[in-house]
Amino acid sequence: MAKQSKNEKMENIVSLAKRRGFIYPGSDVYGGLSGTWDYGPLGVTLKRNIMNLWWKMFVEDREDMFGVDAAILMNQKVWQASGHVDTFVDPLCEDTLNHRRFRTDHILKDAGVDAEGMTMAQMDEAIETNGIKSPDGNPLSKSRTFNMMFETHVGATHDERSVSYLRPETAQGIFTNYKNVVDSFYPDLPFGLAQQGKAFRNEISPRDFIFRSREFEQMEIEYFVDPGEWEASFDALLKDIYAYLEALGLPLENIHELEVPAEDRAHYSKRTIDIEYDFPIGKEELLGLAYRTDFDLGNIQRVGGRGMEYTIKGTNTKFIPHVIEPSFGVERALMAVLSAAYTEDEVNGEKRVVMKFPEHLAPVKYAVSPLLKNKPELVEKAREVYSILKKKHGAVMWDDNGNIGKRYRRQDEIGTPYCVVIDFDTLEDDTVTIRYRDTTEQTRCSISELR
Ligand code: GAP
Repeated sequence: MAKQSKNEKMENIVSLAKRRGFIYPGSDVYGGLSGTWDYGPLGVTLKRNIMNLWWKMFVEDREDMFGVDAAILMNQKVWQASGHVDTFVDPLCEDTLNHRRFRTDHILKDAGVDAEGMTMAQMDEAIETNGIKSPDGNPLSKSRTFNMMFETHVGATHDERSVSYLRPETAQGIFTNYKNVVDSFYPDLPFGLAQQGKAFRNEISPRDFIFRSREFEQMEIEYFVDPGEWEASFDALLKDIYAYLEALGLPLENIHELEVPAEDRAHYSKRTIDIEYDFPIGKEELLGLAYRTDFDLGNIQRVGGRGMEYTIKGTNTKFIPHVIEPSFGVERALMAVLSAAYTEDEVNGEKRVVMKFPEHLAPVKYAVSPLLKNKPELVEKAREVYSILKKKHGAVMWDDNGNIGKRYRRQDEIGTPYCVVIDFDTLEDDTVTIRYRDTTEQTRCSISELR
């Protein structure tokens, strides 16, 4: 098969995602809303499977993790104390003629200049010395900072005191509940609190499909440790991250670790490893693992006035625990899963597109079809098989649309591992054909075996 370019692969995935009911552009019928995406019937299941697997591996299967689900709207003091009000900013520059706005580091990156570690003044200088223009060919303004939090007001008055924000990370809802969980469960250190949920960032230039969205989901853990022992937990969590990425079916050779240099780390971090992935758009950040020290609990104690110290049981030893934070973005995990699964091959001389999802992630596990939909005896028998599988697996699709070849192609495109076909032999001997997605091989098995 001719090798496709990376952009072509991305475009094919975006188009398949829309055509087959995984992901649609947000508010499409009204002309769209940039940076927002809606999940269709298959997308919502795939996304849930990715999130549920994470919850199982990081929370349910472990003794040292506790789940929480905090409110999205929080007291404005949370974001003042965390530093987001002052420092959660991106550099923004403007086309001086048509006033379109861009992220300065993205403008540089698109022009082949790596802006990692540059100050805003250095970025402006790089634009000037390289003669970089806006995508519309016009001169660019000097940069200024732009805060990415979506501001809103809570209650009927619109004044400074009613200001709140749509949370830009789920982490703060974990920190604000740290003491509640300690008081309810008395966990021994080290232990973690985990949360999944929406986060919002007013990205200057959302792009690359769901990779950089304005509304997205995070799966975050704040893992509380004795400050003298943070390194062991950091290393252990890094291993756990790899186990999860393997369970997502992501090839190890596409996963890379970036030790983030001090000048590029978030204001709260003493060590950060970005896990990068070879997406079709290039090597980009998939998730982060950061050592946040006692920055957040220390801030809560200082600004909120509540004691955040942990007392080691049976002793007088007290300290504010330090924190290791694995922070996953669901959309990025989903985009990695889609790109790892997307495969083009040839079957009997015909091009085929197949999504080779790991079986436990596939939104549909079985498709059940009568060979001919106008033969009531086949339909009746197929309905019987469908009910058996549906009761057992839930994620089973009835498919009698078009001829059998077309059904197979459609099921390949949505990544269904098994197609079960009921034909005239079924009526004689109670066996069905099972057709395997990855090999296209077909075998017969009895209905009782399916049971
Ligand atoms: N609590 C730490 C934190 O939020 P971050 O590196 O800003 O750290 C963590 O974000 C993860 O959230 C990223 O690695 C990425 O997976 C995801 N993420 C961040 N911004 C995103 C966006 N605009 N669209 C989609 N995912 C995003």
